[in-house]
Amino acid sequence: PNLIVTEDYAAMSRIACDIVMGQLAQRPDSVLGLATGGTPVGLYAQLCDRHADLSRTAVFNLDEYYPLSRQHPQSFYQFMKQHVYDSLKPLSWDIPDGEADDIIRECARYETAIRESGGLDLQVLGVGRNGHIGFNEPGTSFASRTRLVSLKQETVEDNARFFENASLVPLQAVTMGIATILEAKSIMLLASGSAKAEALRQLFYGRVSTEVPVTALRLHPNVHVIADRQAAALLS
Ligand code: F6R
Repeated sequence: PNLIVTEDYAAMSRIACDIVMGQLAQRPDSVLGLATGGTPVGLYAQLCDRHADLSRTAVFNLDEYYPLSRQHPQSFYQFMKQHVYDSLKPLSWDIPDGEADDIIRECARYETAIRESGGLDLQVLGVGRNGHIGFNEPGTSFASRTRLVSLKQETVEDNARFFENASLVPLQAVTMGIATILEAKSIMLLASGSAKAEALRQLFYGRVSTEVPVTALRLHPNVHVIADRQAAALLS
């Protein structure tokens, strides 16, 4: 992977925004894959400040909690509305339905929708401290596709900060699989803070292993990692 190390979170967000804006300039009708969580919030604020033109752009999200209503304030649906779509109106946006009755069918629908859009041009990723990407936890097959998964205890704990208490965090999610992510033409992974340093060390120097899902990105020819100094502390 290509590595860009930045001084801090704000600089990471600015460079990430430059890359997304560059993609949109090159191809206004790009298909973007976006992530939620704390890491890309600065990127999304920059895209809004710079009035990114998404009017010809289709957006897909990596994942959504299950079961969780789209109206729930902590749903990734609401996250995307709040941080992106209240300001920027893409041509279309899609996210797995965390309250679908037939979840197998919903997962198949999502895969088909991505494929029929022409496929992801740029997928934005964060990384879990255990190396997860999307909600593909350690042990996930690199051949995995969009499906219902159970969250690891550490992921539930990490996400508890967004809920009133840990018992309210859904224990499952619908996530793009690792194969789905690897089919994106390019990938940009953002990492900020020392909690992500070990995951990045594994990405650059560890063995490619399903035990550390982020190492799957070594199998992809076009990955940019943008990390602040704390996240990059164990590199080089
Ligand atoms: C979010 C997602 C997750 C997060 C990861 C890091 O859509 O799929 O993999 O990217 O859990 O979360 P933060 O950014 O909150 O540290």
